[in-house]
Amino acid sequence: MTEANKPIDPVDPDQVRAEASALAEHLRRSGVHWLPKPQPESVARLEELFLRSQEKLEPSPTVEQAAATARPKLATSQSVAPRSIRPTARLDPVAPSTHLGGKYPQPDLPHPERQTLLDELNAKVSVCTLCEVLASCRTNTVFGEGNASPRVVFFGEGPGADEDRSGRPFVGRAGQLLTKMIEACSFRREDVYILNTVKCRPPGNRNPEADEIANCREYYESQLSILRPEYIVCLGAVSAQELLKSKLSVGRLRGKLHSYFESKVLVTYHPAYLLRNPAAKKAAWDDLCLMLRDAGIKE
Ligand code: URA
Repeated sequence: MTEANKPIDPVDPDQVRAEASALAEHLRRSGVHWLPKPQPESVARLEELFLRSQEKLEPSPTVEQAAATARPKLATSQSVAPRSIRPTARLDPVAPSTHLGGKYPQPDLPHPERQTLLDELNAKVSVCTLCEVLASCRTNTVFGEGNASPRVVFFGEGPGADEDRSGRPFVGRAGQLLTKMIEACSFRREDVYILNTVKCRPPGNRNPEADEIANCREYYESQLSILRPEYIVCLGAVSAQELLKSKLSVGRLRGKLHSYFESKVLVTYHPAYLLRNPAAKKAAWDDLCLMLRDAGIKE
């Protein structure tokens, strides 16, 4: 039997996972972040209808035919080898976190190419006017900085006054504490990458609004997709809830590793919160130790 005549592999968990995560990513990029949990009866009925329609297809499509005719056109630059379509595949419902465990949508790039892409994105961000208020109030956009091939990324909320003035993330008092936290993990600041959920300072240091976060989503998603870190440390509720599509508090999200595509995600307290509540520093250090142990950096 030639490769082209091979019947479709009816069960290919890798493919199902890849298709589900690509579909979830596609829906998410289209603005769909939540779908209702399917009713088992509706799922059974749809499966039945779907299988019946497949039975009418004669002869069975080859791998290439199936891939050419049935593969949804997904917005990804990653080249995917043609794969079989699994007619009976039951995709997980797109719950808030299901897009968070698959492959990053962008390919893994060599370091210089990552840097070039980040520079191009930074240039785009620097002239962004999607948020009328933020764009008119800012002195500088604050894109992010650090190692383009980092093991760990620190993901904050948004620039404050010092960051707005300098165009660099986490350079004020909270930034100094973050640098100490990074060094306590035995990294240098330049080893890691530091970025924020929004790239412009919300006036009066208020939290970014939901539409401001949505406007910036494409930027931080692209950054993370280029950086593909092993760990993302979410500093505070804004970045954690946004990245994990959760409404839970930091207190509920911390203490375990979550996932965002191939990265493991740790949630801990924002350094500004730790400055106001020094008693929480112990918990933040415990969180970092959880990551360091998982990374084999600490026993
Ligand atoms: N707080 C943040 O969340 N980010 C910064 O860059 C500075 C303070």
